[in-house]
Amino acid sequence: MDRKYESLLLFLIVIMVVGKAQGATRVGFYASTCPNVESLVRSSVQFFISSDASLAPALLRMHFHDCFVQGCDASVLIEGSSTEKTAGGNTGLRGFNVIMDAKARVEGMCPGVVSCADILALAARDAVVLSNGPSWDVPLGRLDGRRSVASDVANIPSPTDSLDILIQKFASRGLTTRDLVALSGGHTIGQADCQFFSYRLYNYKATGMADPTLNSTSLRQLQNICPGNGNNNGRAAALDKGSRNRWDSRYFQNLLAGNAVLESDQALAADPSTRSLVNTFATSSDSFDDAFTRSMVKLAHVGVKTRAHGGEIRRMCSFVNF
Ligand SMILES: *[C@@H]1O[C@H](CO)[C@@H](O)[C@H](O)[C@H]1NC(C)=O
Repeated sequence: MDRKYESLLLFLIVIMVVGKAQGATRVGFYASTCPNVESLVRSSVQFFISSDASLAPALLRMHFHDCFVQGCDASVLIEGSSTEKTAGGNTGLRGFNVIMDAKARVEGMCPGVVSCADILALAARDAVVLSNGPSWDVPLGRLDGRRSVASDVANIPSPTDSLDILIQKFASRGLTTRDLVALSGGHTIGQADCQFFSYRLYNYKATGMADPTLNSTSLRQLQNICPGNGNNNGRAAALDKGSRNRWDSRYFQNLLAGNAVLESDQALAADPSTRSLVNTFATSSDSFDDAFTRSMVKLAHVGVKTRAHGGEIRRMCSFVNF
């Protein structure tokens, strides 16, 4: 080959690899095999979120819970008696119908080509955008996994984890403390059921009193929402006080004022190792958005499966292929 073309080719390969790739995935993966995949997924997400804004945080949470367990391989979508979906840590996951709808649209145009894991990654991005959050390119090319076991969910971050445990859990997935703070900012939208925080309101650590780090105004409001120390019949509080459905840095301002609903969120403002980032994100929504989008790309690359891992393109998102 002509030397000039050889170096041009090498240059192009370097651009392709360095440009938009994250290991096994890359932006534009389906450009020739399913060019409309992004708009098909967006149509589904938009359709459902337009009548129920709470599906946006639900889809973001589902993607996070998928990636944290067995990697981003759509294992969270699988139906069955003891699959991930049935585990305690996945209580209240919603939005499965959005992914099924998107998969049906995509299969209609390009059957057998696009993984459920990629559809979920795109849906999470679209959910953020539709909540007035930032947008970013999602590298694609994940395959779907064949394992989904409830006990694997044991290591998912819990609202009662200490900051040290959370940092360890993120590190075990290749995610940093900065990723932890940035991704926690996803709580700028959404809500939590009383069962995840009512223990803070009445008899925290068997003291007979509320969690002393909780802002006293917020405490009264949360006690009204959750009148008992327990389940409270599915009653829920906004994770970002005063700005439940809006993407902004208010969540970080709330942490600084002691208004976090979840103890694991409040811990981010208390500890010196994370407090300065909380301060930065509280005062600059641009730096929050920038950090969040970078961390989302990293999260969406955790444990990505290839053919060598036994990955497949699932025909139905809720069942492995036969
Ligand atoms: C409690 O929250 C309110 C409203 O968010 C805020 O104005 C106030 O400063 C907070 N109190 C403390 C002690 O941070």
